[in-house]
Amino acid sequence: MKLLENKVVIVTGAGGGIGRDFALAMAERGAKVVVNDLGASVSGEGKDAGPAQKVADEIKAKGGTAVASTDSVADWEAANRIVKTAIDAFGRIDCVVNNAGILRDRFFFNMSIEEWKAVIDVHLNGSFYVARAAAPYFKSQNSGSYVNMTSTSGLIGNFGQANYAAAKLGIVGLSKSMALDMAKYHVRSNCIAPFAWSRMIGTIPAETPDQKARVEKLKSMQTSKIAPLAVYLASDLADGVTGQIFGVRANEIFLFSQNRPVRSVHRAGGWTPEAIAEQAIPAMRAQFYSLDRSQDVFSWDPI
Ligand code: NAI
Repeated sequence: MKLLENKVVIVTGAGGGIGRDFALAMAERGAKVVVNDLGASVSGEGKDAGPAQKVADEIKAKGGTAVASTDSVADWEAANRIVKTAIDAFGRIDCVVNNAGILRDRFFFNMSIEEWKAVIDVHLNGSFYVARAAAPYFKSQNSGSYVNMTSTSGLIGNFGQANYAAAKLGIVGLSKSMALDMAKYHVRSNCIAPFAWSRMIGTIPAETPDQKARVEKLKSMQTSKIAPLAVYLASDLADGVTGQIFGVRANEIFLFSQNRPVRSVHRAGGWTPEAIAEQAIPAMRAQFYSLDRSQDVFSWDPI
């Protein structure tokens, strides 16, 4: 029996990039797949039914089972239609992969309200909408798995991505909340922070020789390398694995830390701003985090 036999999986943003490889890998392992993709540009403009249909056709040509969906995750009614597509076509839903995404990079001080809202809508609101629409089915069948795509732009930091970083870290909070609230129904929820060469990463400006060299290295990170972890998390092999944040970069898999207090100071009688400056901050400064970006922490080449 195949690993995902009898399971129904929705992969959002599956018309290209990482999501396409998720859909193909899930289908190869026996899942019936809803291939959802609006067919938008990297910045989220436009609509094209082609990409979702093409991936669904690819799966069917290989003997798998798939149906295309072109609804936007960024709209509550449309998100419900994505889940309904799974129910209508296959009668159940076992895994939601919140993967759809767009970028509207701009330095914070120049970011427009539209740029902020568009990114929050697709990533954070879209993940909530699709996950929430599936929740009643997960609850009543007493099983289910959410796989939510986050990013080291949120977990660590990056220039020019205030909207994206906020959305991606918001997804971490959403994922943990879903894991907590649905644990009693045996529903699991985890995050994956991927590193992969896709059209999204292709938008990184590469002008200086240093930037060009970095981008060449990024090209060695294939989108298909992220899929085995998503397939695992969708499967019953991942029983008990919930509330975690994983990362995948080529042949490396990471488990990320989660926020816990690292140091505490106490002062009988309470603190004044001056006492904080004189005692609390010096006591804690050794544990301060520097203003790292993702590439400062992931400073070695993909393996
Ligand atoms: P991609 O741009 O190739 O794929 C994203 C897909 O989402 C596109 O096919 C697009 O049409 C679709 N989409 C956009 N808005 C949508 C909407 N409203 N409804 C439904 N579909 C929509 O990008 P990639 O790299 O494959 O990204 C996949 C996920 O991984 C995203 O959530 C992204 O933020 C995340 N990620 C990717 C990284 C990478 O290294 N490629 C790094 C960190 C996170």
